[in-house]
Amino acid sequence: MSTMTARSFPIFVAILLLVAMQSRTIQSKPSGDPFGFVKHLEGCHKNGSVKGLHELKRYLEKFGYLNYGHQGKKGHNHANDDEFDDLLESAIKAYQQNHHLNVTGSLDNSTVHEMMQPRCGVPDVVNGTKHYHTHKSIHTLAHYNFIPGNPRWAKRQLTYKFRSSVQVPAAQNIRSICAKAFQRWAQVTEFTFQEVSVSSPADIVIGFHRRDHNDGKAFDGPQGVLAHATPPASNAMFHFDADENWSENPGPNQMDLESVAVHEIGHLLGLDHNDDPNADAIMSSGIPSGIAKRDLRADDIQGVRALYGFAN
Ligand SMILES: *[C@@H]1O[C@H](CO)[C@@H](O)[C@H](O)[C@H]1NC(C)=O
Ligand SMILES: *[C@@H]1O[C@H](CO)[C@@H](O)[C@H](O)[C@H]1NC(C)=O
Ligand SMILES: *[C@@H]1O[C@H](CO)[C@@H](O)[C@H](O)[C@H]1NC(C)=O
Ligand SMILES: *[C@@H]1O[C@H](CO)[C@@H](O)[C@H](O)[C@H]1NC(C)=O
Ligand SMILES: *[C@@H]1O[C@H](CO)[C@@H](O)[C@H](O)[C@H]1NC(C)=O
Ligand SMILES: [Zn+2]
Ligand SMILES: [Zn+2]
Repeated sequence: MSTMTARSFPIFVAILLLVAMQSRTIQSKPSGDPFGFVKHLEGCHKNGSVKGLHELKRYLEKFGYLNYGHQGKKGHNHANDDEFDDLLESAIKAYQQNHHLNVTGSLDNSTVHEMMQPRCGVPDVVNGTKHYHTHKSIHTLAHYNFIPGNPRWAKRQLTYKFRSSVQVPAAQNIRSICAKAFQRWAQVTEFTFQEVSVSSPADIVIGFHRRDHNDGKAFDGPQGVLAHATPPASNAMFHFDADENWSENPGPNQMDLESVAVHEIGHLLGLDHNDDPNADAIMSSGIPSGIAKRDLRADDIQGVRALYGFAN
């Protein structure tokens, strides 16, 4: 009897600890999808104020469509209120234009649907102006874009390493998954990518992080923003949001690790979001859940080759 109690005691403590840890995780998580607020704004258009519009303003600012700046007299700056003003209307129009929706300036059904998709955290535009590259031939119908200023790597042999602040059990094979993702770009360019140990210097650091992780671009919990990456630069980084439902073989409501890796590597090489009307390119800002989308499309390949002058 007494031996049984002694044996079950550690298990009891372990269960207690587990319950305590879980309830803390649940408490610190805000409920639902960070983009879910958009659903409640369906039908809004420029006509006075609607509760919750300030969240839409934050969304459009985050992805580069809206910039209230610091100009404007007190009372004329609607950055944090629920007023549907002219600036908001033109930001919605710019969003619709970039995403090949009808340019209505109102939150119609298809705009709401598009805005709620999980997506990459890299903004589509900078300072409210479309910075899409103009080296497009009207004959090729390419929709690729370069990052403003066309940053590029000077070398062709790039190294990467992994350093995460959060361990994600579903991503235990992240090293081979990223190796495959890099290989997709290596196959169509002159780049080689080599993983190095965590103590070695590397061109690119890849990691899983949660919420605020000290790069000024806090993640937002499950859904919403999935990942982000820097342009080609010293200290280039590629971060996964550790709070997503990651998988290497996605089922419903899961995000495919390799699909997201292939997209973010495109940014690391200097590609920006694509404005492909069919949203089929790897470099489209939205990344669907529940499916794998890993193969580079013609636009992605043409884009990276054009940026570096590799033969097509
Ligand atoms: C604007 O809103 C007011 C009430 O808030 C409503 O009476 C009016 O019909 C709306 N106008 C349009 C064009 O929707
Ligand atoms: C754009 O508007 C047309 C005509 O109203 C409609 O048929 C079409 O479905 C709309 N497209 C989108 C993406 O909402
Ligand atoms: C609006 O879009 C949702 C998908 O986001 C769809 O299920 C619904 O039927 C649409 N409603 C209308 C009125 O088009
Ligand atoms: C965007 O605007 C800010 C502030 O006006 C400026 O510092 C920054 O350089 C601009 N970025 C680009 C890419 O134009
Ligand atoms: C994560 O994915 C699994 C498998 O598809 C699914 O059963 C589960 O509901 C998902 N979790 C969330 C929070 O979406
Ligand atoms: Zn992106
Ligand atoms: Zn980050």
